[in-house]
Amino acid sequence: MNVSVIGAEGQLGVDVVKAFTSNGDTVSSVSHADMELADKESVATRLTELRPDLIVNTAAMHHVDKCEQDPEMAFAVNGSGALNLALAAKRIGATLMHVSTDYVFDGSKASPYQESDVPRPLNVYGNTKLAGEYFVRATTDKHFVLRTSAIYGKNPCRAKGGLNFIELMLKLARERGEVKVVDDEIVSPTPTPEIARQMVVLSRSDRYGLYHATAEGSCSWHAFAREIFVISKTNVTLKVAAPGEFPIKVPRPKYSVLENCELKKHGLNIFRPWQEGLREYFSGRVSS
Ligand SMILES: NC(=O)c1ccc[n+]([C@@H]2O[C@H](COP(=O)([O-])OP(=O)(O)OC[C@H]3O[C@@H](n4cnc5c(N)ncnc54)[C@H](OP(=O)(O)O)[C@@H]3O)[C@@H](O)[C@H]2O)c1
Repeated sequence: MNVSVIGAEGQLGVDVVKAFTSNGDTVSSVSHADMELADKESVATRLTELRPDLIVNTAAMHHVDKCEQDPEMAFAVNGSGALNLALAAKRIGATLMHVSTDYVFDGSKASPYQESDVPRPLNVYGNTKLAGEYFVRATTDKHFVLRTSAIYGKNPCRAKGGLNFIELMLKLARERGEVKVVDDEIVSPTPTPEIARQMVVLSRSDRYGLYHATAEGSCSWHAFAREIFVISKTNVTLKVAAPGEFPIKVPRPKYSVLENCELKKHGLNIFRPWQEGLREYFSGRVSS
């Protein structure tokens, strides 16, 4: 299969390139310098040259605060950008695999969100990602839309810069000996190599549609930090942050756990409990 990975230098993109390459596919890595999602011509020209069978879009504007400050740009990249890809994919006969987010939900549900639940984003980022989903689903039948959550990988997240949550926790523990983390936001921490492996599996099927694609189980950021310190044998005092101690400017869902219903229904789910993914992240690491 000829696969073009958009956002190939990003946290997820790097692992997606690796997974399809290991699978024996011919992969073209498309960086931001190669293609501007918000520019219809740029998308069409590049994809016409590459002629992939499968386009995997991991690129997005996903810094929540920046999206709130510049909703037009966020919509241009996450909404219209997805439409540009879907139109080009349809024209060249390619399948489009597009990454979306748990932030399409408002977090008011007390049990894991299913694909059939009605989205209600709380912020600009979530709204623009939802618009992108709808554009993809309405434009081309040959699509996979994957909603994932709280992703982390060995390659740093470009949009957030610097360290992922795990490395940040370890750094704070080293520097301060005491770390405070919120326990009122519940997520499913999902490793990027696992998402990438799931994408390869899904790409071999023709069961197009909308999928939740996250690690199994859920935890608060505080519980995630605790597991990080246990696995890495880090000596630190971990405390629960008081309400309002880390004020956030933009509303986020308090509970954004997703159930991989559709993957399971079709016997395609490869995700493991989040703790196993975390142990794999640390495997082979000499010290933290
Ligand atoms: N981070 C999370 O916890 C999380 C949770 C759920 C879903 N997601 C979704 O997961 C996906 C991957 O996230 P990630 O952490 O891998 O992001 P990332 O590390 O920030 O990588 C995103 C990539 O997209 C590129 N890009 C940004 N704007 C672009 C544009 N206008 N045109 C073309 N390329 C552009 C970036 O290039 P430059 O850096 O060179 O601009 C970067 O290489 C995104 O769709 C995000 O919405 C993330």
